[in-house]
Order: sequence, then C-alpha cells, then structure tokens
Amino acid sequence: MKPANCRQRSRMVTFTGVATCFAFFACSGSMTWQKGIALSPGGGAARAETGEERAASAAAFLKASRVLFHPRCLNCHPAGDRPLVGDDSRPHPMHVERGAQGMGKNGLLCSTCHREKNPQGDNMPPGAPEWQLPPADMPMVFEKMTPRQLCEQLKDPARNGSRSPDEVLDHVREAPLVLWGWHPGDGRTPVNSMSHEEFVKLMAEWVDKGAACP
Ligand code: HEC
Ligand code: HEC
Repeated sequence: MKPANCRQRSRMVTFTGVATCFAFFACSGSMTWQKGIALSPGGGAARAETGEERAASAAAFLKASRVLFHPRCLNCHPAGDRPLVGDDSRPHPMHVERGAQGMGKNGLLCSTCHREKNPQGDNMPPGAPEWQLPPADMPMVFEKMTPRQLCEQLKDPARNGSRSPDEVLDHVREAPLVLWGWHPGDGRTPVNSMSHEEFVKLMAEWVDKGAACP
C-alpha cells in the first residue's frame, strides 16, 4: 500500500472515533515509515509530519499561490468592498459593491448582469453559477496578502468559510467559480500560471504534508 493512499483514507474517516481507530490500526500495522501518530486536541489521529514534508508542503503552497494571486481569482477576493476587473484589477465599473451577503448592494445585484455562463463578446459581464463575492463578515481577502498571510488564512476556519484543509481542497477542485478562472470567456486572460490539474495537485500536496506555510 502506498503511504499516500493510507493517509488519504485515514483523513477521510477521522470524523468518528471508531473509524479513527480503524484507520490507525489499518495504517500503522502495514507501514513502518509512519513515525508517530499523535492525538490532536480535537481527538482525531494526526500523523506528525517530518521537517522535510513540511518544507515540501510550504513550497507547494508558494507555487500554488501564483494561481490564487492571479487577477481571475484575486478580482473576487478584493481587500475592499468592490469587486475588481481586468488584468490590472481596477475597481468594478458602475460602483458595484459587495453588500452584506456578497451579492451586491443598492439594487445593483451581481445576478442582474452576471449569469450562469459567459456570454459572447468582449467587455461583457462574465458568468458562472452563483457569481458573487464572499460575504462582508467573511471576506476571504487575497488582495495585498503575502503568500504566508494567505496560507495562514486559508487554513483558519474563522476566516476561510469554516473549512477544514480538506474542504479547502474540495473547493479548489470543484467550485464552479474556481473552474471559471481557466475558462473566463471572450477577451479575458485565463489563469495561465499552470493548469487546473497542476494547481489541485500542489494544493493536495500542501494539505497532505501538513498545510505548512512559506
Ligand atoms: C465571481 C467571484 C469569484 C471568483 C472569480 C473566484 N472566487 Fe474564490 N470564492 C468566491 C466566493 C463567493 C467564495 C466563498 C464561497 C463559499 O464560502 O461557499 C470563494 C471562496 C474561495 C476559497 C475558499 C475560502 C478561502 O478563502 O479559504 C478559495 C480557496 C477560493 N475561493 C479560491 C479561488 C481561486 C483559486 C479562484 C481562481 C481560479 C477563485 N477563487 C475565483 C468568489 C470567487
Ligand atoms: C450593472 C451590471 C453589473 C453588475 C450589477 C455587476 N457586474 Fe460585474 N461586471 C459587469 C461587466 C459589464 C463586466 C465586464 C467589465 C469589463 O470587462 O470591462 C463585469 C466584470 C466583473 C468582474 C471581472 C472579471 C475579471 O476577472 O476581469 C468581476 C470579478 C465582477 N464583475 C464581479 C461582480 C460581482 C461580484 C458583482 C456583485 C457584487 C457584480 N460584478 C455586479 C457588470 C456588472
């Protein structure tokens, strides 16, 4: 059995004590490389990563951050309360604002102009399901962050939409707004630092090796 599979499996079943024990025995029995399993304060079994793994984790995040800071992502993760537009991330025209739920304000709702799909033609409002900003009480800011700050935020449930690292991974793998970054429609540069597949691979490495920060 490959270590990665075992780790994957134990991560998937740690939500009940019984399953945790099962994973503990199933993994520890067959694997000598596993240096130690520590019980975390939450009661779940967590493997202590080696220094080498933590360094690889931080390096993977640093590479992946080139995508997170790309304008196609950053434009919806602004430091202020207006979405940003274009490769130069300028404020959204028509003074569009976040609003409490991230869906717009003062009658200028995102859904008025942004639909589920990209329309044809340049300078049109791009589209993807549930097009909006994060809500005001959890703004998930990427703009003006250092890679380290962003890394700390992405693993902080109080700031990342109450997600576990695995759930952050699910989000970057599947969320339509993330996938849109590679298919942003006419007249917009797709995320070009790497493919979506490579990005997910790096984020998975980051999580699997301990979600360490650069
Ligand atoms: C149209 C706006 C929009 C775009 C474009 C967008 N996001 Fe988001 N993003 C959101 C919203 C809204 C949420 C919060 C959704 C939720 O909590 O369910 C979010 C949440 C996230 C999260 C999880 C929360 C966190 O910050 O820890 C990550 C990671 C993320 N986005 C990454 C990306 C990446 C990578 C891209 C580009 C490839 C991208 N986003 C593009 C709107 C957007
Ligand atoms: C009145 C119509 C209208 C409303 C309301 C509106 N938008 Fe837009 N949006 C546009 C148009 C038009 C563009 C294209 C501008 C361009 O490319 O020059 C655009 C572009 C964008 C982009 C740029 C994508 C990129 O990476 O270049 C983002 C992000 C965005 N809107 C988010 C939002 C969000 C979030 C909301 C709600 C809070 C919203 N918009 C509300 C019309 C609107």
